[in-house]
Amino acid sequence: MTVTATDTGTRALSARARSLAEDSAEWLHRVRLDPQGRWYERLHADADHEVWIISWLPGQSTGFHDHGGSAGAFAVVLGELEEAVPGAARTLEGGQVRGFGGHHVHDVRNVSGAPAVSVHVYAPPLSRMNRYDLDENGELVTLRSESAEEW
Ligand SMILES: [Fe+2]
Repeated sequence: MTVTATDTGTRALSARARSLAEDSAEWLHRVRLDPQGRWYERLHADADHEVWIISWLPGQSTGFHDHGGSAGAFAVVLGELEEAVPGAARTLEGGQVRGFGGHHVHDVRNVSGAPAVSVHVYAPPLSRMNRYDLDENGELVTLRSESAEEW
């Protein structure tokens, strides 16, 4: 399945992430584990969307961030991940998919005791990400903005 400019809604992105996860035999051999931090590789990029695979050792996390206005979806392929938003968190297990719109802010983390692998789709391709912390009231505080050239 391909995602075109006309169907890059969250549902299409979720379907793309699910499809990539189901075809993990095509790309799983690329995955590495890095004790220094999350390992990631861009699997695909075109004008409409991009795909990243990420591995997570226990304790590795993104920190709170947005996606610079891009919508996205990610699927857990192996292990499990926790997605936190301010005030709430949910666990995603292998085979589960989470789609989100262009204003979504989350912290994705491996709080389990085993490695995890996930596949992420963003449309349009990521150009900027803003990083946040939580203040004492649980409100988001902007830390900094990163452009695509920085990662
Ligand atoms: Fe994210």
